[in-house]
Amino acid sequence: MIIKTQKAILSSEITDPLIFKQRRQIIKALAGSLLVGKGITSVRAGEKAPWDHLPKADVLTKALSVTSAELVKNHTNYYEFTFNKADATTLAQSLPTDPWSIEISGEVEKPGVYHLEDILSQQSLQEYIYRFRCVEAWSMVVPWIGFPLASLLKTVKPLSGAKFVQFTTLYDPKIMPKQRDNAMLEWPYVEGLRMDEAMHPLTLLAVGMYGDSLPKQNGAPLRLVVPWKYGFKSIKAIVKIELLNKPALTTWNKMAPSEYGFYANVNPDVPHPRWSQNSERQLGGSFFTPRRQTELFNGYADQVASLYGDMDLRRFF
Ligand code: MTE
Repeated sequence: MIIKTQKAILSSEITDPLIFKQRRQIIKALAGSLLVGKGITSVRAGEKAPWDHLPKADVLTKALSVTSAELVKNHTNYYEFTFNKADATTLAQSLPTDPWSIEISGEVEKPGVYHLEDILSQQSLQEYIYRFRCVEAWSMVVPWIGFPLASLLKTVKPLSGAKFVQFTTLYDPKIMPKQRDNAMLEWPYVEGLRMDEAMHPLTLLAVGMYGDSLPKQNGAPLRLVVPWKYGFKSIKAIVKIELLNKPALTTWNKMAPSEYGFYANVNPDVPHPRWSQNSERQLGGSFFTPRRQTELFNGYADQVASLYGDMDLRRFF
């Protein structure tokens, strides 16, 4: 994984004029005029939290070959709109993403409803090139633009009772027709992480990709990206983030607990009940391109295996 460390907002820190132009477009598209954040304060200097020992994302360097943007933008899973991977590109365009607010509640010192532009005005956007592995056994490599979820959570000051984080997608059946027509999944789409997973520096909130703002079909204006977990954990169009003292109840896990575990860590040794997980089809390959051998934690074991210590990964899949 390569992480470019340019901050999006400060032009003095960006040397390549093209990158600077792209970043400016992102900021413009996402935030309009950047306002000084209201209600979000920075973490107190010297404050120590249990997750502070975790590795910092910018020490990771692994060369990856990025999947074509065309493919990634036209092969999406967005079940609120369609079960067809090609159709969300058009159908999701009806989702209004500006203005956008996110409610942060539960076990935090500073709950509130925060405007996205206020959140972004407090964050440094960076590009993170991550592998992305779907539970359906296809994979891609995406250059996301975003910021660590931890950096947002720290500003609202998690209380000691915060053990899990639950994320919710917008619920509006008038805009998202499958929320009305499709009873297979319970709506709105909900996902969750354990607190230490949420605070891990690889866990992102993404607002862009391929040097531009996030396309609606890929989760605009704000989505989660957890690169060592199956793609269904990376919830799109987030409107609510709740810090809970009990496990989050997540959409896929509720629908089929024997097929979609809460953890959903990429693991070649734990097959899905209906197919193997030990290899994956790489998007962009030809008919003759060999399948890639799936790696434990999607190749991020050095960074995240310690989160799971002695846990039996077959039981907690
Ligand atoms: N988030 C919402 N709200 N609705 C969805 O249908 N699909 C999930 C995840 N996040 C989904 C979602 C699944 S199954 C995957 S594999 C990824 O988004 C796909 O991300 P992509 O469409 O950007 O490739």
